[in-house]
Amino acid sequence: MAKKKKILVLNGPNLNLLGKRQPEIYGRLTLEEINGKIRSLAKELGVMVEVRQSNSEGDLIGWIQEAPKQFGAIVLNPAAFTHTSLALRDAITAAAIPTVEIHISNIYKREDFRHNSFIAGAAVGQIAGFGVQSYLLGLRAAAELL
Ligand code: DQA
Repeated sequence: MAKKKKILVLNGPNLNLLGKRQPEIYGRLTLEEINGKIRSLAKELGVMVEVRQSNSEGDLIGWIQEAPKQFGAIVLNPAAFTHTSLALRDAITAAAIPTVEIHISNIYKREDFRHNSFIAGAAVGQIAGFGVQSYLLGLRAAAELL
């Protein structure tokens, strides 16, 4: 499939623990179950997706740097790196392909330190607070941006 029909979905640190991690905030679905929903929606939308997760900032930066070779857009849940990583933001700016920032929880309703996103200024937009639907809304947005 042409590069412009491919979307890269990236998950940052601790999202491998979804299902067990603070289910009252992040829900009971595992990352694999969420990925299943992402793949079904991608089929429906006629786009290809690849889903990856890493606890390492370096991995995420490397994948974002390489993304323009294969992908037309990125859906990114940067997890805690949202609030700390200027390097991730710079990688998104350098990659220069549309990036949709997503969060399962509404970061603005939570602790003050979650209210700042280093990523938001480099993303096309941000979707936060819709649980697993944040991924699916993000995918729809990214598909429109291809
Ligand atoms: C998160 C919100 C972040 O503040 C937190 O560090 C996460 C998950 C979310 O999806 O709601 O790990 O990105």
